[in-house]
Amino acid sequence: MSAIGVIGGTGVYDPSIFENIHEESLMTPYGEIDYVQGTYKGKTVIFVARHGKDHTIPPHKINYRANIWGLKKLGVKFIISTTAVGSLNKNFEPGHFVLTDQFLDFTKNRITTFYEGGDRPVAHLDVTNPYCPELREIIETVGKEHNLSIHNGGTYVCTEGPRFETPAEIKMFHMLGGDTVGMTNVPEVNLANEAEMAYTTISMITNYAAGISENALTHGEVVEMMGEMASQLKALILGTIEAIDMAANYAAHHRMAEYGGFKL
Ligand code: HPA
Repeated sequence: MSAIGVIGGTGVYDPSIFENIHEESLMTPYGEIDYVQGTYKGKTVIFVARHGKDHTIPPHKINYRANIWGLKKLGVKFIISTTAVGSLNKNFEPGHFVLTDQFLDFTKNRITTFYEGGDRPVAHLDVTNPYCPELREIIETVGKEHNLSIHNGGTYVCTEGPRFETPAEIKMFHMLGGDTVGMTNVPEVNLANEAEMAYTTISMITNYAAGISENALTHGEVVEMMGEMASQLKALILGTIEAIDMAANYAAHHRMAEYGGFKL
């Protein structure tokens, strides 16, 4: 049976927005994952807290491959992920939502692929459209129905973390075309695409990035803003789940056709 995956980022740990929930774990070739299975409007939903349910896993230690492999194994066809981000773009204000459509990868020490040779031979993922355009359109429509400030499109800069950025780095990212900055979207987006799931990210602007904001950044302010946006995010996620056509067949679902498709 097909399912919808929800990957909750910072501030998004509560799967009780879904119905019939129960906690489970699954062993994958990359390690064990914990998840919550539930339903919404008759659709199966699998929820994974990216940083663990108590926010104990930092961005550079997340087991991205286990999370994505696990979602695939559990029948997920569509992934809605959430990320807290800083803004480099004066039009993207704290409290706004951005449906990221491109990324700039500044990570340093992460395993970025399932295709490491052997059972999975060399493969070169096409990332012309890394964030499923059809899913982004659905989310944008739901967001507008709820009168949210939502931008469809924006370039996400992924840093290694766990530290925040220097103002000099933010200036450079801005010159390179970055709109938002966070620490977790890469390699998650690429692994999801290798596993032929339609993937999208709802980025929540929690702050202006270092140097744009006059104040020093704190994790506390990120979490506080996430709290303020929680009810809007809930409406966005639930409305999107309701609107997804489980039979939809997007380009993302056969992205690896050239390599014989993704096999578990
Ligand atoms: N930088 C990196 N990650 C973030 C930020 C930021 O300013 N805000 C929320 N996550």
